[in-house]
Amino acid sequence: MRVQGTISPPGDKSITHRALMLAALSRTRVELMGVLTAHDAKSTARVLRQLGVKVGPLRRGQPVEVCGRAWRRPKETLNCGNSGTTVRLMLGCLAGHRFEARLTGDASLRRRPMKRVTDPLTEMGAKVTGEDGDGLPITICGGSLAQYRYESPVASAQLKSALLLAGLTGGVPVSVREPVRSRDHTERLFRYLGLDLEVNGNRIDFRGPGDWPLTDPFELQVPGDASSAAFLVAAAIMADSGELEITNVGVNPTRTGYLRVLERMGANIECANETEICGEPVADIHVAQTDMCGTEVEADEIPGLIDEIPMLAGLAARATGETVFRSVGELRVKESNRLELIATNLRALGAAASVEGDDLYVEGSDRPLSGWVETAGDHRLAMAFAVLGTVQGSEIKLSEMGSAGVSYPGFLDDLRMVTGR
Ligand code: S3P
Repeated sequence: MRVQGTISPPGDKSITHRALMLAALSRTRVELMGVLTAHDAKSTARVLRQLGVKVGPLRRGQPVEVCGRAWRRPKETLNCGNSGTTVRLMLGCLAGHRFEARLTGDASLRRRPMKRVTDPLTEMGAKVTGEDGDGLPITICGGSLAQYRYESPVASAQLKSALLLAGLTGGVPVSVREPVRSRDHTERLFRYLGLDLEVNGNRIDFRGPGDWPLTDPFELQVPGDASSAAFLVAAAIMADSGELEITNVGVNPTRTGYLRVLERMGANIECANETEICGEPVADIHVAQTDMCGTEVEADEIPGLIDEIPMLAGLAARATGETVFRSVGELRVKESNRLELIATNLRALGAAASVEGDDLYVEGSDRPLSGWVETAGDHRLAMAFAVLGTVQGSEIKLSEMGSAGVSYPGFLDDLRMVTGR
């Protein structure tokens, strides 16, 4: 299979959620460009509409208009669909609002842990009632919050962002320290919008809302999604020949851990035309076919490539030698138990993979991979194994592919366009 062409990934999912929420929390008209139009982004838009905010339709290639205003108590349960970022960040936003809201999601989201967010929000002063242990549905009633300092036991951008958003809506300073730096889109957007926030190593100090909410109309531009681009990068690396140009890709260092690992594995990747969009670094990525070798991915690298592990594990199965991913227990609480499913699916295709404690081991080989993959409706598993299926000689059948629409609408069309398969 030969790759060729120039392609742009869809808008960044993490930044889209944050841009929609901050626009909705303003008191003005905001125009958002480059917004992701996938299911997860639509979940955030839908929930904001239920809170009384006017959010225009999310249509590919079209700007989205949001009219920020005071939020009102929702009449019905807020359904966050499959989106962990929607529910966790929204809990933060709602913590500073003095009304009650009930949140739920699909079966996958209802299984995911929420106490990591609701416990600190409760300490800040929000009233939270869960109906089912650690998970959704949850009812939150925000109120008068106290200023807050938190040592987070997990490197989670969703948790960190929920607390910063609670500080913003509750009008109180918040300080969060993470064990390892997670993606910093909230911090960058806060600063871009003029909010007083300081970063010192792994500690983030938000000093309070200052002049927020903004009342003068503004615009935000969302760059292309680094995680979606990773699937195209992998397809190019595993091709027999050719090269690919991926334009307008977010290259925020807290998201590009996968590029550093791929380079270590021998990949031929160049970034050009680096620029900044709304406080986020963006570049064009040039990538060509390469033979890869195994590597060890250390625990402190994991937060910077957490969503790319399914794809990196697939690449590792085609590399020479063993690849180890250290301390990837967080993968058990993603849209599926990604840790177990990566290993079982790779084994189902004839590759050697195992989980020992929280570590994932993948043994590379050049044997053709064939068999059945159970995606469990997890978009990143579906896309990672679809890319593996483009490798010459492989015969991979997926249980479903529709889940790709959670983060990357038109994924299969893009993959076919660049690989011709
Ligand atoms: C995200 C943070 C990460 C990531 C998720 C999006 C975000 O989750 O896996 O896809 O937008 O903040 P955690 O915060 O749970 O690590």
